[in-house]
Amino acid sequence: MTITDDQSRAPGSPELAELPEDVTIETEEGRRLAEQLEDDRRHARKLLEVRNLSTHFTTRDGVVHAVDDVSFELDYGETLGLVGESGCGKSVTALSLTRLVPNPPGKIVAGEIIFDGIDILKLTANEMRLLRGKKIGFIFQDPMTSLNPTLTIGYQIAESARVHMGLSRRAAADRAAELLGKVGIPRAKDRMGDYPHQFSGGMRQRVMIAIALACDPKLLLADEPTTALDVTIQAQILELIRSLSDEFGTAVILITHDLGIAAGMCNRINVMYAGRIVETGNVDDIFENPQMPYAWGLLDSLPRLDQEKGERLRTIEGLPPDLINPGPECRFSPRCQYARDICREREPELSPRGENEPGHLARCFGTEPGGWIQ
Ligand SMILES: Nc1ncnc2c1ncn2[C@@H]1O[C@H](COP(=O)(O)OP(=O)(O)OP(=O)(O)O)[C@@H](O)[C@H]1O
Ligand code: SF4
Ligand SMILES: [Mg+2]
Repeated sequence: MTITDDQSRAPGSPELAELPEDVTIETEEGRRLAEQLEDDRRHARKLLEVRNLSTHFTTRDGVVHAVDDVSFELDYGETLGLVGESGCGKSVTALSLTRLVPNPPGKIVAGEIIFDGIDILKLTANEMRLLRGKKIGFIFQDPMTSLNPTLTIGYQIAESARVHMGLSRRAAADRAAELLGKVGIPRAKDRMGDYPHQFSGGMRQRVMIAIALACDPKLLLADEPTTALDVTIQAQILELIRSLSDEFGTAVILITHDLGIAAGMCNRINVMYAGRIVETGNVDDIFENPQMPYAWGLLDSLPRLDQEKGERLRTIEGLPPDLINPGPECRFSPRCQYARDICREREPELSPRGENEPGHLARCFGTEPGGWIQ
């Protein structure tokens, strides 16, 4: 099942009509009013609508169904977590949104991605460059691979602002210094001429955030932005992303394998498994009323305050399935202790859960109404 507009549209955000054509705008105040109405109209729709997205990789062993019929939406300014084990398709989803999937071997084979009203799969490669950087910022997992070691930090941030915002060299340099300060680099102005290797891992990640935010994007994609960092720095970087997204009104898709991190940062969570979304909902609903045995597994592997000393964290036994020619069954069934025959015959659809939990959907026969898991 696709998450349709009707299910996901927030209450009180009806589709607004276009402005009537026979009204002529004559005054400054009228222009401001028209702008406001246009703004209201834009905000009545979603920032991002992903419908039935499938991305495949053609390999010598066969076709890898890395992202398989994935649909989800994102509001303006919202923070969404994309959570799941290694290899479940989180990064490929993010790369698909920015059309950065390496081709070959990868290809978006089906679906629609509507970003801020633009159908991005219809854009040319050149037009796509306009969107990337200007409207969508990307923070990659490893800053060393995405920063150019031969260019100064100041140049790299300013270049992004210059190219995408059309700023003069001087204005771009000023913006770069301001952003470097905002992401918490001490003596920002003095450090503009330094090279990436002169910064620590945490500092480099801050620089990546500054580059991603240099053009004031509407959406920030943060792919495991803190995995390579120690715990204290991790918390600081996450706090930085949160405060900057609040300040600039930027929506965030935070990719992480750690449900705990997603809980602290996100409004909503998509749990991914084997190329599919298997549960989606508000963060509280996912934590208080999870509806998919895989999500229970992820929750069980989180450290808890009431944990006995020496008690080991539980892990999910077994491995995710091969994404080459996935079968018709529930993809979690080989690892699920609740699996029954029906689970091995066909895959459940994403279906609504919880009486007062709008937008909470899960893919499990056992927890459907009348199912065998209570
Ligand atoms: N260039 C590629 N060629 C072939 N298969 C690929 C390629 N890139 C990704 N895949 C496959 O696509 C699937 C999804 O990968 P993806 O990188 O999205 O996982 P992930 O959820 O981001 O994992 P991780 O947490 O390890 O980063 C995996 O099975 C992976 O092997
Ligand atoms: S559908 Fe069946 S196998 Fe899949 S998660 Fe639910 S109970 Fe487990
Ligand atoms: Mg990844």
